[in-house]
Amino acid sequence: MQRINSLSEYFKKYELSEKNPESFWSEIADSFTWKKKWDKVLDWDFENVSINWFQNAKLNITENIFERNLKERGDKTAIIWEPNDPNESPIHLTYKKLYEETCRFSNALRSKGIKKGDRVIIYMPMVPEAAIAMLACARVGAVHSVVFAGFSSTSLADRINDCQAKMVLTSDGNFRGSKTIPVKSVVDEALEKCSTIESVIVLERTKQAVEMFEGRDFWWHDCVSEETNICDAEVLDSEDMLFILYTSGSTGKPKGVVHSSAGYMVYSAYTFQNVFQYDENDIYWCTADVGWITGHSYIVYGPLLCGATTVMFEGVPTFPNVSRFWDIVDKFKINQFYTAPTAIRALQAHGLEPLKNNSLESLKVIGSVGEPINEEAWHWYHDNIGKGNCPLVDTWWQTETGGIMISALAGITPNKPAHASLPLPGIHPVIVDPEGNELVGNNVQGNLCIKFPWPSIIRTTYGDHQRCINTYFSNYKGMYFTGDGVKRDHDGYLRILGRVDDVINVSGHRMGTAEVENAINEHEEVIESAVVGYPHDIKGEGIYAYVIINSQSSDDKVKGEIVDVVRRVIGPIAKPDKIQIVSGLPKTRSGKIMRRILRKVASNDFGNLGDTSTLLNPDVVEEIINGAN
Ligand code: PRX
Repeated sequence: MQRINSLSEYFKKYELSEKNPESFWSEIADSFTWKKKWDKVLDWDFENVSINWFQNAKLNITENIFERNLKERGDKTAIIWEPNDPNESPIHLTYKKLYEETCRFSNALRSKGIKKGDRVIIYMPMVPEAAIAMLACARVGAVHSVVFAGFSSTSLADRINDCQAKMVLTSDGNFRGSKTIPVKSVVDEALEKCSTIESVIVLERTKQAVEMFEGRDFWWHDCVSEETNICDAEVLDSEDMLFILYTSGSTGKPKGVVHSSAGYMVYSAYTFQNVFQYDENDIYWCTADVGWITGHSYIVYGPLLCGATTVMFEGVPTFPNVSRFWDIVDKFKINQFYTAPTAIRALQAHGLEPLKNNSLESLKVIGSVGEPINEEAWHWYHDNIGKGNCPLVDTWWQTETGGIMISALAGITPNKPAHASLPLPGIHPVIVDPEGNELVGNNVQGNLCIKFPWPSIIRTTYGDHQRCINTYFSNYKGMYFTGDGVKRDHDGYLRILGRVDDVINVSGHRMGTAEVENAINEHEEVIESAVVGYPHDIKGEGIYAYVIINSQSSDDKVKGEIVDVVRRVIGPIAKPDKIQIVSGLPKTRSGKIMRRILRKVASNDFGNLGDTSTLLNPDVVEEIINGAN
């Protein structure tokens, strides 16, 4: 894998990627194994969103993880799995063992009738089998869609129905901190609303009692027991779908972001290698869950494509105590550590005491992802975890981008607190004003767009291509719109300012305000609701809900019930932090809710509410201010 070793080399590569993107990317793609090479590197059209990388090439991503690595790295550890309970032994899976287990499970998938193009839902805890499940799908050409195991049965059912999945891979339960959480029963509940699922494969993890439905449900261990550890990889076209991952937007239900085989492979591996500057014997740990894009690209695909040792952690940072992350760093002598600002802020709140027995001296690189990192958290992380001498890579990217887009390259790009810094080679960001004019030069601020395709750019939103065009490629002609605001400072370094649309980012989890409102509105006493984000010390943003109810019961009772409804409809991650019962919502004469005002009130920023005279109901603003939490 091509690796950039100096800042001057970065600038050289960047220039090449601008002047001759095809030659830049084909050089990188050359280091992979192809069944057939491409006829043309790139064909693209942002108007109809038709993007074709490595045209007509044939490959299988798992051959690039296994067959390409096995000879030199067969006995090298691919995955280290750290269980929830530190007293349970970790598992070290070599590349050879991971290959055999993947083949065995690939054969099991085929035995159950799964073939190229079929959609398979993975609803599993953070166990090695979750990675094996993803890789086995990729091996047989099935399209995986991992659903975070904290989502509710309704969210799971929505995703199954949207992609018309044929199979669900799951577990009996999930160990999470001091809790044991049911998983299979959530699947059972979801499947009451789904008609396309033919079979469910259940991994035994917690050994809790589950119901198994004859003819539909099978135990993982039974499925693999008779299978061999050799399995031919399906030959895929470069643009064949690799996976679908659902993510939230400003409107409607979550959409299925589609990534394709070749481009995603090339980009996830290239960015992993270069951002983290991985060396052959390093131990790398990303604390994300495989249910999110970070887990896909930087626990599973990127590291394994590069022959790295990647750590998977089943538990939470606070169990059995708040030293857990740092104990794991020392236990496995982690070299690269990649986590979210929310985790940093939560651990920072406990002070330095939990660090006193940890050396952390193995760390070479620390990383941040998922939300803006504030300067205070940046410095705490840099000084106390990185001991002041580890480069901190603040990596900006999205589910739709498939891989890291703007980030320092560890040890190469100078660090600047709270700045994602510079675009990776091949990434051409532009800052635009609301009219779409490009703001050139330094010291400018506006909306972040990307004007040229990169290999792992979103290809479509599953089942609704027009939605993909409308959401990402219509706001600004000829550009991909990210939904984020950005500032280019006097040095040309980029600082991400957060979402400029109706998406909020709670603890690094992306949520549509409309999605949370729809869930709240399911409570029978609720007439209308409006959800906004507000600054939260730990979570980055908290969820603030304004709700109109027609209830005679007490506000507190209804508030509690609303929280329960949101947990049930979406999952615990979407539950509102604050609920304010109101008699009306500020609306324009055309009936649109003025969210600007609601955001200001939620942020305790009452000073400058702007012009409220055009409101249909200006009186309600005072009531809202007086009742603010
Ligand atoms: O607002 C940006 C924020 O997370 C959004 C993407 O969320 P998701 O698709 O769930 O992917 C998260 C993991 C890649 C972005 O639109 N975001 C992500 N990374 C950063 C960030 N905001 C600021 N700085 C970052 N490093």
